[in-house]
Amino acid sequence: MKINDLDPLMPYQPQESRYESMKFRRCGKSGLDLPMLSLGLWHNFGHSDDFRNARTILRTAFDLGITHFDLANNYGPPYGAAEENFGRIFEKDFKPLRDELLISSKAGWDMWPGPYGNFGSKKYLVASLDQSLRRMGLDYVDIFYHHRPDPATPLEETMAALDLIVRQGKALYVGISQYNAEDTARASKILKKLGTPCLIHQPRYSMMDRWVEDGLLDVLETEGIGAIAFSPLEQGVLTNKYLKGFPEDSRAVKDGRYLQTDKITPALLSTVEQLNELARKRGQSLAQMAIAWLLKDPRITSVLVGVSKAAQLNDNVNSLQALDFSEEELTKIEQLLRT
Ligand SMILES: NC(=O)c1ccc[n+]([C@@H]2O[C@H](COP(=O)([O-])OP(=O)(O)OC[C@H]3O[C@@H](n4cnc5c(N)ncnc54)[C@H](OP(=O)(O)O)[C@@H]3O)[C@@H](O)[C@H]2O)c1
Repeated sequence: MKINDLDPLMPYQPQESRYESMKFRRCGKSGLDLPMLSLGLWHNFGHSDDFRNARTILRTAFDLGITHFDLANNYGPPYGAAEENFGRIFEKDFKPLRDELLISSKAGWDMWPGPYGNFGSKKYLVASLDQSLRRMGLDYVDIFYHHRPDPATPLEETMAALDLIVRQGKALYVGISQYNAEDTARASKILKKLGTPCLIHQPRYSMMDRWVEDGLLDVLETEGIGAIAFSPLEQGVLTNKYLKGFPEDSRAVKDGRYLQTDKITPALLSTVEQLNELARKRGQSLAQMAIAWLLKDPRITSVLVGVSKAAQLNDNVNSLQALDFSEEELTKIEQLLRT
């Protein structure tokens, strides 16, 4: 993002109506409420992205009552860029609103060279969060996650790092991401003993990726941990976006690192088409139905979407207007997903 693009907008005055339409859910057995829709900055906030667009997305989100912005040390490209750009926008637009915001970051993937810039050691997690705070210009994050399990580091050490970070005042709450059910139960027990309970788990979960239903959600309920589902729209596949070809400005065409056009097959699109038709009958867009479908389970505290345009957020937030499904609709969805 170019420095001369930094101030293209008028000073930010948040909408006074921002809390009127958003719904909040309590995160597990904690005292913290999360908006049922959260915004992730994995894509569209890197140095090659449009700063004005990024700033408009964040303003729109907050105006819609989305109080939770999710980052990680390695979001970009390059790594660190999303936190830097978020920091610039925070400084310009959100600084006086800090106490109305939940800001998350994570460490766990490769971040810098050498043995201390990856995985789950105390050395890596503590140093990485210090770097994240500097990039974002924050004193603390609200939630700090271990981004992925590290089988080569004792879980006790990684959880002790999360506990230390809270005691240092650098994060208020801690979470884990991508941990399976068994490791989640172990991590939760260690954290409880340390006096820093696990607030939240961030798993990949969508209509098309159901692994969390095989034990993880039960563990989260038992342990009193909230859940925030990432890639709920399968990176855009669970929308009407690819039904008429591959738009030039879509993630699959523009980026291709994590979503490739050859994975969006005619068979997959046929399922998407039928889901789209079902959503239409419900009076929803497919994106809205996919989000509502996740939120029908009260164990899902929040759904974590990404957007490349502010208009997509307006679409997504309207999912909260129709969260109920009939038995017939649920059965039909299962049938379509099995084909
Ligand atoms: N913990 C982890 O390991 C992990 C991993 C991945 C992601 N995450 C988090 O989860 C967040 C969301 O992940 P994601 O970006 O993959 O989520 P997603 O919501 O499944 O996909 C986002 C993409 O879907 C498209 N989209 C969104 N709303 C739309 C709408 N209403 N109509 C049409 N298209 C729409 C946009 O694609 P186009 O760009 O094509 O317009 C957007 O970039 C990330 O930002 C990150 O914070 C966490």
